[in-house]
Amino acid sequence: MLGYAGRVRSLTTIVHEYVTNNLDACEEAGILPEIEVRVKELAESRYSVYVRDNGPGIPSKHIGKALASVLTGTKFHRYMQQRGQQGIGAGGCTIFALITTGKPIHVRSGTGKEAYACDLSIDIKGNRPLVNNLEQIKSDFRGLIVEGEFGEVKYEKGEHGVYEYIRRTALSNPHASIKLIEPDGNEAVFPRSVTTMPRRPKQILPHPLGISASDLLDFAHTSESRKVTSFLVDSFSRVTHDKVRELVEIAKDVDFEKAPRQLTWEDATKIVNAFKRVKWIGPELDAMSTIGEKQIDIAMRNILNPKFSSVVERKPQVFKGGVPFVVEVGIAYGGEAGRKNGELVSGNILRFANKVPLLFDTGSCAITEAVQGIDWKRYSIAKFDEEPVSVLVNVSSVYIPYSGVGKQAIAQEDEIVEEIKLAVQDAGRKLQRFLSGERHRSVQESGYKTIMRYVSQLSADLEELTGKKKEETQKELRSLIERKYKNLFRGVEGGEESSETETESES
Ligand SMILES: Nc1ncnc2c1ncn2[C@@H]1O[C@H](COP(=O)(O)OP(=O)(O)O)[C@@H](O)[C@H]1O
Ligand SMILES: [Mg+2]
Repeated sequence: MLGYAGRVRSLTTIVHEYVTNNLDACEEAGILPEIEVRVKELAESRYSVYVRDNGPGIPSKHIGKALASVLTGTKFHRYMQQRGQQGIGAGGCTIFALITTGKPIHVRSGTGKEAYACDLSIDIKGNRPLVNNLEQIKSDFRGLIVEGEFGEVKYEKGEHGVYEYIRRTALSNPHASIKLIEPDGNEAVFPRSVTTMPRRPKQILPHPLGISASDLLDFAHTSESRKVTSFLVDSFSRVTHDKVRELVEIAKDVDFEKAPRQLTWEDATKIVNAFKRVKWIGPELDAMSTIGEKQIDIAMRNILNPKFSSVVERKPQVFKGGVPFVVEVGIAYGGEAGRKNGELVSGNILRFANKVPLLFDTGSCAITEAVQGIDWKRYSIAKFDEEPVSVLVNVSSVYIPYSGVGKQAIAQEDEIVEEIKLAVQDAGRKLQRFLSGERHRSVQESGYKTIMRYVSQLSADLEELTGKKKEETQKELRSLIERKYKNLFRGVEGGEESSETETESES
């Protein structure tokens, strides 16, 4: 099963499935999400997971289909940027609980019209949901609570664990307030840092240049159009009847008059090849929902508390000639940025696809390739692996080209890698300006301190030689030196005075 390999990963996958659903449901209903996740250790490799949201809830008559069957998600056939396109959904968690512990998932939900509790399991052979112990309850709770017991899982605080997943989710969803109660009882709270909802992504039709033969068949087999010709016009953006006539000319042996359901793999391949030979207007670019420049900045400041941060959102681009995507990058330096490893700290890359953190398969990802391909020395980072720097990259698209079935890495498409590089370089230039300013400042500061150290002795010696009062010379020298180093004092208060007193006592 997708995502269920390895104990740590399985637990992260479970939390991921529930939390992405929380975020999607709240976003769709225009509700600022409040999410609570509790993980408890019950025995070796056995944990309970509780996830609650304040979303719209799920009506009891739909609950079985929604959370206890597989591949029936409502987002499945929508060409729209949503988190739910990743993984095999809540039904996968129900199956995982059943096969590792034999226990059903307990659900409570309130929709405003009703509040109820029930137990969910699945008749796995028939992919049929089983809803048991359904009872209406008296409660004005709104939202959804799922609670399950899972075996073959493990809670770990490292790079791949639930804690890191939630922390990164908070970074990419600053409009959400998320609380995680860890097995040791520790409460990690990631408060909401902005109160604006993310822009709702628009549902668009796919552009013909971004379509594979298997996509085309998927669309064809769920289409209600009568003929292939009208199916093409209705299902894809920029396809007009004129364009279909061109396609008919190119893919001569395909019968465009038959029902879309009857398209074969060969037909689909021919049509996709024909797509590539027709001249198309570019795709619509406004279908993407990004995190937002300001939001990334606020979230990074809240969670990483850096000395410096810079954020870049690029304009939408296309890959494979027809699929729009957009790249956002944030760089944070100092504070909690970077990855701590005991006393040591190293640069780290925070990867996101449609705001969902990617924790696995780091090596094969376009984001990793792009960030590692940067000549960091040019941005005043001598060694990326030894500096407190975090590079956040979010790629948004209605169609993210994942490189594996686990959907944890973005394929290294040239256009995407290039675009990420440009964005990182852009943000890197601002970092460079900050760091070189900092370094210049620290060189100046040590020069200032060194010179100040001699003032008292020099003034005393001068008094002996010339008879001029030590205090007077001292005052004049001080003001001379301060004038020379006036940049050091610009816009800073307090801090500098203390370093001066320090100098004085040293002298
Ligand atoms: N927390 C929730 N609040 C409201 N509806 C939900 C929630 N979680 C799941 N759903 C509904 O259940 C469906 C199935 O979820 P899922 O299996 O994860 O598929 P997907 O997320 O791909 O749509 C969702 O499409 C949504 O309609
Ligand atoms: Mg889902």
